[in-house]
Amino acid sequence: MTDNNGYIVIKAEEDGVNVIGLTRGTDTRFHHSEKLDKDEMMIAQFTEHTSAIKIRGKATLQTAHGDISNLK
Ligand code: TRP
Repeated sequence: MTDNNGYIVIKAEEDGVNVIGLTRGTDTRFHHSEKLDKDEMMIAQFTEHTSAIKIRGKATLQTAHGDISNLK
């Protein structure tokens, strides 16, 4: 669960990008919200508490599954 594959790198491409952690288990809800401004980066990990991560805003991600961007 907490090996290196659980990490994702997030680079905000605009101000006010939200990185939201969702809980693991039967009750899936927001438990954490982090706001990144342009060019701020965050390295986040899936944990026993976090099963999903929602990102609102323009951002570039690097994950074990590849690189993803929602820039036009
Ligand atoms: N305390 C949270 C946890 O261990 C912190 C966290 C981990 C988190 N990964 C995250 C918060 C991703 C937001 C997004 O699960």
